[in-house]
Amino acid sequence: MESIQAIKQRFGIIGNDPKLNRSIEKAIQVAPTDISVLVTGESGVGKESIPKIIHQLSHRKHGKYIAVNCGAIPEGTIDSELFGHEKGAFTGATATRSGYFEVADGGTIFLDEVGELPLTTQVRLLRVLENGEFIKVGSSKVQQTNVRIVAATNVNMFEAIKKEKFREDLYYRLSTIEINLPPLRERKEDIHLLFRKFASDFALKYKMPTIKLTDDAVALLVKFRWNGNIRQLRNVAEQVSVLEQNRTINGVTLQNYLPNTSSNLPAVVNNSKSESDFSSEREILYKVLFDMKSDLNDLKKLTMKLMENGNISEVQKDNEHLIQKIYGEDKDEEFDTNVEDLEVLSIPEHTEVNDSTPSETEDKYHFAEEIEEEETLSLHDKELELIKKSLERHSGKRKLAAAELGISERTLYRKIKQFDL
Ligand SMILES: Nc1ncnc2c1ncn2[C@@H]1O[C@H](COP(=O)(O)OP(=O)(O)OP(=O)(O)O)[C@@H](O)[C@H]1O
Ligand SMILES: [Mg+2]
Repeated sequence: MESIQAIKQRFGIIGNDPKLNRSIEKAIQVAPTDISVLVTGESGVGKESIPKIIHQLSHRKHGKYIAVNCGAIPEGTIDSELFGHEKGAFTGATATRSGYFEVADGGTIFLDEVGELPLTTQVRLLRVLENGEFIKVGSSKVQQTNVRIVAATNVNMFEAIKKEKFREDLYYRLSTIEINLPPLRERKEDIHLLFRKFASDFALKYKMPTIKLTDDAVALLVKFRWNGNIRQLRNVAEQVSVLEQNRTINGVTLQNYLPNTSSNLPAVVNNSKSESDFSSEREILYKVLFDMKSDLNDLKKLTMKLMENGNISEVQKDNEHLIQKIYGEDKDEEFDTNVEDLEVLSIPEHTEVNDSTPSETEDKYHFAEEIEEEETLSLHDKELELIKKSLERHSGKRKLAAAELGISERTLYRKIKQFDL
């Protein structure tokens, strides 16, 4: 059996974290069997390597490996993509077509984002998993296939089952073995290692000297939350590699590349960050999604514990920190004054600035006091103004306004109440 180290090298997996090693070991162990595997973990943790390892180390390695992104195929065509269709099965079906399950006979199918499968497709999938049988769309002939399925998801399947979006029986069939990949923030030792690897790859790619981090920059990197995990780390390494002239990067420079995502609370600050920090709508949406995902993961953990334990007060006691993290901000109607924990909502330059400059004849102590007071006031006004404008722009649609402001819907709701809007 190939060692974990050799597999990591072969599949370009960087890191020495024990949880990562355990996941790879599980993949190696399960590969020679035909057992279905469900790969779980947050977005960007590297789930896509696991099915490749499983296929390559299985007796199916000379068979086909087909990766299907279930979330990217329209609901109307997914059955036909997966199982094929007969000529005339629907408008446009001018010829009989084989689906992936027929083509991959003897091989492996990787069903990425499996939680996105429509319920009707789930029924067909269950049948293939149970006895290898499927029927083309528009046909009545039962066909046989021999396909190994590895699925992946970054959503909470229990939640999907509860909402009746995913069949429980299918979930259990798919997840005979579950391989969970840890988020990057739980692999602190690997963060700098991965960054160095990406920095050296990008130096080669862009034919520039490799960037190096100072100690304070490394500390910042390790402390950061990395909601987008390895994908996000690689993007940051690429941006810094391309944009920085000085190839030694300190903490202050690195900070400019790290979004402020530590909490759901927005704070209005003077325009110390450039407008471009939040100018890209996509970035704002990513940020909101990352925040939501992090909340969701915390809730997942809590739900799992509740399901496993059943004793609410005990779980409550053992998970005070988590509960505080998820619900804490809601209980607190005040602005958090801890600057480090604040999400920064940048004020665009065109926003009216409150004229708080006192006359020069006033004494300097009065000057200092007044600046502080007026600034706080003006900051609240500006925030109120931003929220109002955003709500107006989106005809009161909170979801869109929250996305534009880079805050969660929950925070926006709280602010609407707070400002009595
Ligand atoms: N351990 C690792 N070493 C090197 N690169 C990695 C590692 N893990 C992930 N990557 C890289 O990070 C990127 C994201 O990984 P991948 O696409 O597998 O994420 P994912 O878990 O499938 O995320 P999503 O749920 O969003 O699809 C890829 O470019 C991948 O090559
Ligand atoms: Mg993926």
